[in-house]
Amino acid sequence: MAIFGNYLFEFSCIVVSIVFGLYLYVKYVAFNYWSSKNIPHPKPAVPFGSLGPVTRGKRSMGEMIADVYSEYKKNPVIGIYTLTSPALIIAKPDLIRFVLTKEFAHFHDRGVYCNEKIDPLSGHLFALPGAKWKYLRTKFTPTFTASKMKQMFFTVKETSVILAASVEQSARKSEIIEVKELMARFTTDVIASVAFGINCNSLENPDAEFRTMGRKIFEPRLVKRILGFLLPSVLQFFKIPIIDETISKFFIRAFREAVEYRTANNIVRKDFLDSVIQLMNKGYVQNDDDKSSVPAKELDDQKITLLQGAAQAFVFWIGGFDTSSSTITFCLYEMALNLDIQDRLAEEINQVLEEYRGVTYESIKAMPYLHKVVSETLRKYPVIPMLNRECEEDIELPETGLRVEKGTGILIPVLGLHSDPDLYPEPEKFDPERFNEENIAKRHPYAYLPFGEGPRNCIGMRFGLLQTKVGIVSLLSKYRFTPSPDLKPIVMDTANFLQVPLHGVSLRVQMR
Ligand code: HEM
Repeated sequence: MAIFGNYLFEFSCIVVSIVFGLYLYVKYVAFNYWSSKNIPHPKPAVPFGSLGPVTRGKRSMGEMIADVYSEYKKNPVIGIYTLTSPALIIAKPDLIRFVLTKEFAHFHDRGVYCNEKIDPLSGHLFALPGAKWKYLRTKFTPTFTASKMKQMFFTVKETSVILAASVEQSARKSEIIEVKELMARFTTDVIASVAFGINCNSLENPDAEFRTMGRKIFEPRLVKRILGFLLPSVLQFFKIPIIDETISKFFIRAFREAVEYRTANNIVRKDFLDSVIQLMNKGYVQNDDDKSSVPAKELDDQKITLLQGAAQAFVFWIGGFDTSSSTITFCLYEMALNLDIQDRLAEEINQVLEEYRGVTYESIKAMPYLHKVVSETLRKYPVIPMLNRECEEDIELPETGLRVEKGTGILIPVLGLHSDPDLYPEPEKFDPERFNEENIAKRHPYAYLPFGEGPRNCIGMRFGLLQTKVGIVSLLSKYRFTPSPDLKPIVMDTANFLQVPLHGVSLRVQMR
């Protein structure tokens, strides 16, 4: 018994010494990184580094980066610690251009979780590194051209008609509706159709499987998200998949069935799914203007597998539905608070629709005020509040005297820039005129980054803007939105890396 007691005592001493040693190492060695390079940084705390407010659920990751930016923005770069790893916030638009565009070759990856073996759906465009990303990005570029947008426009328009119809009863009775969930159903139906060829109809059936999966994927999973985004090596080491097995199985099955159905019935619809199938079958996506055929032999090794195809359909789905539905939600919220802007926008919409005899692809392009309103919405509420890259090779950052080391995480504080009063006076004010030609010309182009910038910017920008605008047009052409009596300022979900409202957004809807 006494021997056992001695062992226990020795064991406890060893554990305490290791923990204490680790504590000292993190505090005085790991957290000395930025001081040793003379880079200003907020004081880190063991064990979360700079992530304290995020892990305590006080701020979202995007808000925390924005807070640090606004406190230290006089400096061109700011250091932080994501847990114990150093990461660099780039504060000056010229330096942001340097990272995202000029020296893209040094910063082409995001360094987020990607493991095709453990988690096949993680092998998508957003997460893939290096040559694999480059190959797929080049292949998918023809999928997002203006001519492809026109071909997919019909699906967006058709779904927006159902969206408008689903609100009509409430509008006639001047009822209060919850717009966040409604918009998520609208964009889910659009993307399920163009990326999976499925008519999921969640607008009429809120429990449709695609919508249920959509809710599931954005359920709070803060620890996994922090690790997947900022410390993927931990998940990789323990072979932990980032996507839940039920979600993964559902999407792989849905994709497989969609491909089999289109192949068996010889269906060709010019949408995202069609591009993915072309890459699986031919190894390239036919450009609409290019009628030449490429010899199949040369492309055999460039074909993608079914799982690689499923991963791309999956990222078009996650990238496509929540970003646009949150943008429409934020826009309607601001329209309800700024009725003069809403009425001016509705006037433009109805004039143009009369001129074009209904909603057409061209009519959406002919609405300059709508473009300003959506741009201002994305300024005030950038759905992706920060961009991230990883340094691939040591490089000197101009005007800082800093040599950024290979492997350093880079963060671009999009929310911080968009709410900086020096760049956008009275940032809380919703003012579409910030986006008239004169004001745009006065600003640095890298001070506005809702879709990122450079070769790795958002590939779906055109489509995202299209479905956002068509959704808004279908509603504001018929209905007027005003605040519900209990409407509160929007609070963001701190457990989400995207800027999404934590609670629903309830607005009163009336016939126009
Ligand atoms: C309002 C709607 C949208 C917003 C605000 C948005 C925003 C963004 C942002 C900020 C990025 C990161 C860019 C960077 O790091 O420089 C991104 C990447 C991406 N987005 Fe979007 N997005 C939207 C809609 C869409 C849609 C509709 C799709 C697909 C159909 C899509 C697919 C992607 C993909 C695949 C990437 C990764 C691109 C790459 O790494 O090559 N997004 N998006």
